Amino acid sequence: MENWRKNVNNDINFIPTMGNLHNGHIKLISTAKNDNQNINLVSIFVNPLQFNNRLDLKNYPKTINNDIKISFANGADAIFIPSTEDIYPPNNKNIEFLKAPKELSSTLCGLDRIGHFDGVCTVVYRLLNIIKPKNLYLGEKDWQQLLILKNLVLTKKLNVAIKSIPTQRDFDGIPLSSRNIHLSKNDRKLIKFFSNELFEAKNNFKQGKNINLKEIIKKLSSEKISIEYLEHLHPYTLKKARTEDNISLLAGAIRCGKTRLIDHVFLMKRRPIIAIDGPAGSGKSTVTKLIAEKLKLLYLDTGAMYRALSWLLIKENIDYKKEKKLQNILQNISIAFKSNKNANQDVFINNYCVTEEIRSQEISSIVSKISSIKEVRNFLVEEQRKIGESGGLVAEGRDIGTTVFPDAEIKIFLTASIDERAKRRKSDKNSKDSQEIDLHALKRLIEKRDFEDSNREISPLIKANDAIEIITDGYSINEVVDKIIDLYNDKIPKETQFK
Ligand code: PAF
Repeated sequence: MENWRKNVNNDINFIPTMGNLHNGHIKLISTAKNDNQNINLVSIFVNPLQFNNRLDLKNYPKTINNDIKISFANGADAIFIPSTEDIYPPNNKNIEFLKAPKELSSTLCGLDRIGHFDGVCTVVYRLLNIIKPKNLYLGEKDWQQLLILKNLVLTKKLNVAIKSIPTQRDFDGIPLSSRNIHLSKNDRKLIKFFSNELFEAKNNFKQGKNINLKEIIKKLSSEKISIEYLEHLHPYTLKKARTEDNISLLAGAIRCGKTRLIDHVFLMKRRPIIAIDGPAGSGKSTVTKLIAEKLKLLYLDTGAMYRALSWLLIKENIDYKKEKKLQNILQNISIAFKSNKNANQDVFINNYCVTEEIRSQEISSIVSKISSIKEVRNFLVEEQRKIGESGGLVAEGRDIGTTVFPDAEIKIFLTASIDERAKRRKSDKNSKDSQEIDLHALKRLIEKRDFEDSNREISPLIKANDAIEIITDGYSINEVVDKIIDLYNDKIPKETQFK
């Protein structure tokens, strides 16, 4: 393998398996193939270190010839089938036997399978060191394993990106697993009952009902299902789920005869939210629009809402300094976004389409002042929260991560130097600034806007504590978009990304 690796110049997608390949593995291999032009390497190695039960290891299904056929038929370019001695040479004193972190490995499957995750870490670390892949493909079915391996990559500072795929299910809804071949007809009925219970809990949770573990366990026990564990946990820390968690994990393991099977669902109050904040000219709009398109999320341009309102106040000559008058006006305002025929979004205020008008210098020079009025802010923040109630959106603005959606799953603070931002505004063909103002004056305007936005009393432009700052000088739009999408994919289980 080391020799082969030396002669491969392309990047590698690595798909580690223990063989007995099923549709779950096929999805991993075909996803890797469709992702990029890299070489796809599948490994088949039944790692003795991750079995705490000798019989389980002995009985682990081995179907090597079929596995080879399946791998090549679905996109593998090469297959690595080492022997135990290849991976663990008996006299090699340099093998690093790793320990999985206690916080992640002492719960769920780690409770009963002592040493299992240490064995997984050891083998994956060895394989990664030999293969040096660019991408590592893993299934979300083994969610705890995925978290532990992400932690391994982080702590060992390995230069590999982990890509995950959702749990693949059989025709009857039970998760695909190599161990399923040991199941009798009755076992399958039991695991189907168990999976159905998890899905029912998921639906109940979505409708606002609490999770009652004891009740679910009682129902499972009445079907004579032997439960090893059933836990409701935070999806990343694996600590007990808290009521405020938007996404949580309901995971269980049951025994059918001698076979042990796991399944889980993610419970969600709403779909995920990405919050992108930052100053004018940081590239927010372009980046946010592209992310919305690529991740099929709703695009919420909160700046356009402030601009639309400013437009109306100016057009109707409303003295917005008079509180009472403003309150009355706000009560009768409706702002809506609609897709237009160019696949862009039009902004409407009280049914006027104002997409073009709100980009004028007149509006640019007044929007910061209007958006610092308490009544305006409160009104539009409420409107924005209504739009984001069921999630599934990427919102851009100046106070999204701090005020509008403080519980957004991904918070980005996008910025760039004043020089860079002025240059971008100048060359933006859609912005009237490019014709009306010279570069030097544009810089002063941007500085002034930054100052006003950062120093206003209500919802000033500041980076949320848990936001990731991206300084976009020198990066292309696509590089920034890809970085944010990677952060999203890394954090949000694929299983929750679809409706
Ligand atoms: O998930 C598996 O199949 C195994 O744990 C892995 C990642 C191939 C390591 O042996």
